Amino acid sequence: MKPLTITAVINEYQWDELSKTDQELIQMAKDSTNHSYAPYSKFYVGAAALLNNDVVVCGTNQENAAYPSGLCAERTTLFYANSQYPNQGVKTIAIAARNERGFIDMPIPPCGSCRQVMLETEKRFQQPMRILLYGEKSIYEVKCVGDLLPLSFDAASME
Ligand code: THU
Repeated sequence: MKPLTITAVINEYQWDELSKTDQELIQMAKDSTNHSYAPYSKFYVGAAALLNNDVVVCGTNQENAAYPSGLCAERTTLFYANSQYPNQGVKTIAIAARNERGFIDMPIPPCGSCRQVMLETEKRFQQPMRILLYGEKSIYEVKCVGDLLPLSFDAASME
């Protein structure tokens, strides 16, 4: 037996340490939470994707009375971005979430299915997609989706 070690470095920022571009993208994700449709969980998630052509596409979680029919903000955003701009890679995606008390303290961790969809976008455009996870107390920067989803399944796994 030999252990295989997988490491990922995640950078933790305070708001003032972020570039203006990153602050603006996060602000768009935060603002988008106002468009979230989350009457069941009352957990409002917004995402903002900065594309290679510098267009920003925003999306939110969309819930449904039949719970599994709803979709997370990350996937809504990436599917919409890839539908509107099928040839544009995604430079950065920012994600923010709030409940009824306000924005959450710690950076929002994307669910497993969203990580898988984010990975597909990264592979599809063959460029790393940065991820900014907003929390009131700190912001995490993940350099690429591979760091968020190690030992991942993708098209290469089927070869
Ligand atoms: N949600 C997201 O939109 N993104 C995540 O990464 C985690 C969860 C949504 C799904 C559901 O509408 C609500 O948050 C509660 O799970």
